[in-house]
Amino acid sequence: MTASFKNLLMIILGIESSCDETAAAVMEDDRRLLANVINSQIDLHGIYGGVVPELASRKHLEDIYPVVAQALQQAGITLDQVDGLAITQGPGLIGSLLVGLSFAKALSLVKKIPYVGVDHMAGHLVSVFLGENKPAFPYVALIASGGHSSIFHVTGYFQYTLLGRTRDDAAGEAFDKVAKILDLPYPGGPIISKLSKNGDPGAISFPRSWLEPDSLDFSFSGIKTSVANYVKQNQQLIANGGAKSRSETETANICASFQEAVVDVLAGKTMKAARNLKVKTVVLAGGVAANPRLREVFRQQGGREGFSVHMPPQQFCTDNAAMIALAGYHLFRQQAVTTLDMDVYSRSRLTELA
Ligand code: KG4
Ligand code: ZN
Repeated sequence: MTASFKNLLMIILGIESSCDETAAAVMEDDRRLLANVINSQIDLHGIYGGVVPELASRKHLEDIYPVVAQALQQAGITLDQVDGLAITQGPGLIGSLLVGLSFAKALSLVKKIPYVGVDHMAGHLVSVFLGENKPAFPYVALIASGGHSSIFHVTGYFQYTLLGRTRDDAAGEAFDKVAKILDLPYPGGPIISKLSKNGDPGAISFPRSWLEPDSLDFSFSGIKTSVANYVKQNQQLIANGGAKSRSETETANICASFQEAVVDVLAGKTMKAARNLKVKTVVLAGGVAANPRLREVFRQQGGREGFSVHMPPQQFCTDNAAMIALAGYHLFRQQAVTTLDMDVYSRSRLTELA
């Protein structure tokens, strides 16, 4: 189905189901967000300490219709007023992605609405335009989420060069794993950033993994192991009667020290990438961009370097369908064509080196 809307006002229904959020949003053009509904599955997966793929896809199946219906109601429109559908095509959990895509295909067929597949990373990259403080191209962007930590040189909508990526764990994954080590609930990012507020970031010197001097890649598995070793040594001391059980202050200090080390490397490498490319604008997005300390350090370091610093409002950092609708809008503007044989994918081409 081909979409040709070059000069019309467009209403886009975005749907996101790549991981553990079933989300739907309605955007009018690239400026007005008419509805934004997010149904998180955190309660379902929390007891397992992480997302269980089979449970996730079943829950998406239950939730997708009510979530989309709620979004349309919130926007005050019916499906007949929707000009285009934007659906997350990948990367993500295959079963979960398939629920969203099949739903979009069915809507498209029945209602004769064209649809486009959106790369989830492209969604995070465009999410910064959902805020008031929009960047101008070109810029350097860090996308730090549960699945990726990647630095891009962005020269236009859907024009990116990958500059660096994680060689092992993603930043959000490190937050989640460290939370597990500390017996804190899933997802780890929000709770670690909350507890860090009462901790001393300089209390424990966890290692910063800078890799080779000119590398823009990341590695977060080492710091996770350091936290695990630190906690184990502490537990042995407690078992041998040499220390009291871990106090709240100690947990807060571990959180703050871990967070500081991750933030240092994420911000340091992004600023370096911008310096190398002589780009004056930096962008921060993805779930980890909701972290207040990372936002603060980006603003401070970027300010010192004379960069213009942009990030989406916190609500658009973690997974949402508004960013998918907005990316879809720009794809339709570029005359994107999607056929019914479109399939989902688990790995993003955006994060593969050329
Ligand atoms: O973008 P996102 O919602 O999903 C993926 O595309 O992966 O990111 C989720 C990740 C989780 O690992 C979560 O722990 C992390 O983002 N996260 C945070 C914060 N809020 C969410 N990490 C650090 N600080 C936060 N405040
Ligand atoms: Zn995401």
